Amino acid sequence: MASSAQMAATGAATRALSEFCSDVVMGLSHPGQKELPSKYLYDALGSALFDAICLLPEYGLSRAEMRLLERHAREVVERLPGPVVVAELGSGNGQKTRYLLEALARRQRVNYYPIDISGSALFRCQQELGHLEMVSLVGFESAYLDGLHKVAARRREGERLLVLFLGSTIGNFDRPAGEQFLRDVRATLREGDSLLLATDLEKPIPMVKLAYDDPPGVTAAFNKNILARINRELGGEFDLSQFEHVVRYDESERRIEMHLRSKAWQNVAIRKAGFRLHLRKDETIWTESSHKYDRQEVKEISGRAGFEPAGQWIDAEWPFAQTLFFAV
Ligand code: AVI
Repeated sequence: MASSAQMAATGAATRALSEFCSDVVMGLSHPGQKELPSKYLYDALGSALFDAICLLPEYGLSRAEMRLLERHAREVVERLPGPVVVAELGSGNGQKTRYLLEALARRQRVNYYPIDISGSALFRCQQELGHLEMVSLVGFESAYLDGLHKVAARRREGERLLVLFLGSTIGNFDRPAGEQFLRDVRATLREGDSLLLATDLEKPIPMVKLAYDDPPGVTAAFNKNILARINRELGGEFDLSQFEHVVRYDESERRIEMHLRSKAWQNVAIRKAGFRLHLRKDETIWTESSHKYDRQEVKEISGRAGFEPAGQWIDAEWPFAQTLFFAV
């Protein structure tokens, strides 16, 4: 007989699949531009491909972040009155967080709560950081805000929360949605809690485009995997060879857009959704946006969301910022 934990896990998986199904149908039924939510890029294979992207010489973002954290983690930690509990929104494999946890663990025992929608990313995070001395890790496989509410409810009197939102994941939200997300984060925090926010900064357009359209085609594989995932999980019948990875830079929105362009007229069934998709030749499905920021703008949007800056560090090689805020 199934235990209640097994039944709960099956129920959660069924809900996740039906949400995936309805989001796919909604996005692909959009009048005008068809789209798929970028969060679905990150199944086990997508997360592994994203880790490979971070190793690409063209994608300087992750290395810039690592350099900043390696150099400044101590300084960040020194600015935080303790004791501090750490929640990370979108931990991924956890590599970038090591420096911060090690710096904190020099002064206190650390409760670290990675929150990620990808179970496989959390598993790798556990492998990477689960054995650090003075650090105990409890992962939440959930949406960011749901996980953050759970972490906030666990903290003890006198503990302050440090929220990490690294990797420039905020760039994957539209600007207004990014600001609203920061407001929602602020609403779960108390005055004196802190936020470390990473943002990829504006840079020459050819440099940004190459970062999302690398010659070996790793980002193309990452992008197409969203269709492969629909095939695997929803009985989709996409022929991946009929799609091309396309990257555009929208100068007025200051963002990279990833699309999948149909090479032909297509009529594709997604069996479990009872849905048929019609695509014209050259029509695209928009799968992700990655907004680039100005260093001052980061402080302004966070200020409007209820945060006060407490420090900003910029990488010299690849324009990228880590900004520390206090909730006010
Ligand atoms: C996770 N996120 C910040 C990455 C980015 O740069 O927007 C995702 C990514 N997409 C293609 N390459 C990397």
